[in-house]
Amino acid sequence: MTNTNQKKTLGEFIFENQAAFPYSTGELSKLINAIRLAAKITNHEVNKAGLVDILGDAGNTNIQGENQQKLDVYANTKFIQTLKQRGIVCGIASEEEEDFIAVNSQDGKNNNQYVVLIDPLDGSSNIDVNASVGTIFSIYRRISAVGQPVQLEDFLQPGKNQVAAGYIMYGTSTILVYSTGNGVNGFTLNPALGTFYHSHPNMRFPEQGNIYSVNEGNYVHFSDGVKKYIKYCQKEEGDRPYSSRYIGSLVSDFHRNLIKGGIYMYPRIGPTQKGKLRLTYECNPMAFLTEQANGAASTGSGRILDVEPKTLHQREALFCGNTEMVKKLEAFIAEKD
Ligand code: AHG
Ligand code: MN
Ligand code: MN
Repeated sequence: MTNTNQKKTLGEFIFENQAAFPYSTGELSKLINAIRLAAKITNHEVNKAGLVDILGDAGNTNIQGENQQKLDVYANTKFIQTLKQRGIVCGIASEEEEDFIAVNSQDGKNNNQYVVLIDPLDGSSNIDVNASVGTIFSIYRRISAVGQPVQLEDFLQPGKNQVAAGYIMYGTSTILVYSTGNGVNGFTLNPALGTFYHSHPNMRFPEQGNIYSVNEGNYVHFSDGVKKYIKYCQKEEGDRPYSSRYIGSLVSDFHRNLIKGGIYMYPRIGPTQKGKLRLTYECNPMAFLTEQANGAASTGSGRILDVEPKTLHQREALFCGNTEMVKKLEAFIAEKD
């Protein structure tokens, strides 16, 4: 992004592209605009983190039993506040909240169509080492009748029902990447102007991927198929060995792989062989973006977007990135497990 004057702003892009969206275009545009605003507010705070005494543990644990960092709380509050205040959604679910939040209008009814699910601060353990973190969002049309209180079933839809999804990465630059089902577009924040510019049009995984991203500290817990695939990545043959790159922040690892080509893996671990990432807040939005960018996203044995969520905070294995890499991994799993 050299000359921002030549790039469209996110506001212009939303306005110009809303006609291509099949339903309630105005509402969805307002919703993306609200996310844009909350992203700017959170970005401001994330950037200040090293300067003010805001680092560290807020002293609470979230529903997953993990320590919450202060910025998790901040981002959670700001995203929920912004979405509520603008009266544009009927419900919100957050990784940091035990239950979903029903948003009621003043007359007690809610005529809005959309629910939003968010991971307000992803990769939060990276905050105190000044590595990049992100926000992930996922948007569905409600299933329950408009005008009635929102229901749990509105949030427990398979990922293929998403109407939009995206992330904000608070990195060396802040970038907002999203899709409404018509390709993936990225917008870089010019901090001096507070404006997002269309820096990454029509993002797609490159033809070839040569990066694998996984926490190899968990190697002994992986299934034989996953272990065999990792050995395959490391083998000297053809375009391999692939490079191993892992930040420990899904948004950042995904973003790098989307631009450079690669596979992100969070396999099942531990005695119960469960995934770590949350299906609704992390796997589904990333899977939606992956498919929109010509990649594939899998549980290891099936399409992420086809999984029917049973609970709000359910965990799932995630393998996503270049289609050939994900297919290869699935073949190893099918062969060995
Ligand atoms: P969150 O900060 O929202 O809890 O998410 C952390 C997630 C994800 O961002 C990252 O890819 C993964 O946890 C890292 O896990 P490990 O430290 O187990 O590798
Ligand atoms: Mn996360
Ligand atoms: Mn989080």
